[in-house]
Amino acid sequence: MAKFERGIYFLDQKDMPTRWYNIMADMPGDMPPMLHPGTGKPITADDLAPVFAEECGKQEVNRTDRWIDIPEELLAIYRTWRPTNLYRAHRLEKALDTPAKIFYKYEGTSQAGSHKPNTATAQSYYASKQGLKGLATETGAGQWGSALAMGTRFFGLECKVFMVSISYHQKPYRRILMETYGANCVPSPSPETKSGRAMLEKWPDCPGSLGLAISEAMEYMMEHHENYRYSLGSVVNHVLLHQTIVGEECRKQMEMAGEYPDILVGNIGGGSNYAGQFFPWIRDKISGKKPNLRIICCEPESCPSVTKGMYAYDFGDLSGMTPLIKMYTLGHGFIPPPIHAGGLRYHGMAPTICHLHRLGLVEAVSVPQTAVFEAGVKFAQVEGILTGPEPCHNVKVAMDEALKCREEGVSKTILIAHSGHGHFDLAAYEAYLSGKLVDYAYPEEEVRKAQAELPKVPAA
Ligand SMILES: Cc1ncc(COP(=O)(O)O)c(C=O)c1O
Repeated sequence: MAKFERGIYFLDQKDMPTRWYNIMADMPGDMPPMLHPGTGKPITADDLAPVFAEECGKQEVNRTDRWIDIPEELLAIYRTWRPTNLYRAHRLEKALDTPAKIFYKYEGTSQAGSHKPNTATAQSYYASKQGLKGLATETGAGQWGSALAMGTRFFGLECKVFMVSISYHQKPYRRILMETYGANCVPSPSPETKSGRAMLEKWPDCPGSLGLAISEAMEYMMEHHENYRYSLGSVVNHVLLHQTIVGEECRKQMEMAGEYPDILVGNIGGGSNYAGQFFPWIRDKISGKKPNLRIICCEPESCPSVTKGMYAYDFGDLSGMTPLIKMYTLGHGFIPPPIHAGGLRYHGMAPTICHLHRLGLVEAVSVPQTAVFEAGVKFAQVEGILTGPEPCHNVKVAMDEALKCREEGVSKTILIAHSGHGHFDLAAYEAYLSGKLVDYAYPEEEVRKAQAELPKVPAA
């Protein structure tokens, strides 16, 4: 009989962290602020008040409070799926015959299947406290949309979701989940907004993009619905802040395991799940306590914003409605190739992560999708978890690092930020298993072309 070692680090609910970590209070260097596209001045909480729930807008520009208390009512909701477990991947280590110790913190046990409810419920909570009627949003793969559909419902709000068309058709079950929670979900581009109609006229079969879906959600919120605000699932500071409960929990669990990671690996779409894991660790690197800690960000070769993008002020959406964000970008007009990691197809990246990358505190790699699914299949076979296409990216890179340990004969501790399951992504697994999945590397010329379309930053 096979001998199984347990390796589950279960944190008691009473030990769940009760504060989020605001990295902005510790951020080294001069991180460029988000700018108002009209005035060129740094965005203020007042500028954001018509866009986000008021408290979220305040958190967005907060550069002073290191710790922000999680409201008690929200903690009670968090406790319906938190703390999530940390696992030691003993069987994966054995399969790779590596001396590395591999851990993964698994967010797939939330009701919606990923890390996204950590901020979806927080944003819904603040919106309901403010007396708002509903939230409008975009979603790529549908993980974010389902999380917000659930969060808004918990707090009695309406929810409108613009889902990137290619995913809407590739993943009907995510749409059905959103509708079951009570959201109204339409494919983007849609005929419901000016941005959507303009695109449909130019390109009736347009597969959509997150940038376009963001424009549609913002337009819907501003033009059609009183007492609605817009809700974003990634990229901006307050969203990443809400995710830091993941890393704060994980620090306690790694301590239970008697380990400190040498290498952290996570996937980045807009950056929220991984920031939630690595921000609480990077403070040891910033303070000089752990200068050698490696933090690796993994992205698809087909949407390589950090590894190939330009570092410039750009819009977060296709139509130019958002503030200007200094980030690595493939250009806000980017329409991604129809790869299966739907959550990793955004043209930009969280400005905090970009800034930390500029400072040399985090690394980035890009990986092709067939190798990513090969790793996902291996992980499913040894650990039993069907990994979402997004975290398959960092599972792949973690395996590569573990194999390097074998070649070099050294043991390192590798921590995987596992952001969610892939139960609604079986079509992607089928495409891989039947040999239909192909690799695609985003061409450099396209990035150069996009450079010409970058917005002019008005003089402040
Ligand atoms: C499971 C999962 N992981 C990762 C991501 C990427 O987004 P982010 O970088 O904001 O975590 C998504 C996005 O939808 C997702 O669903």
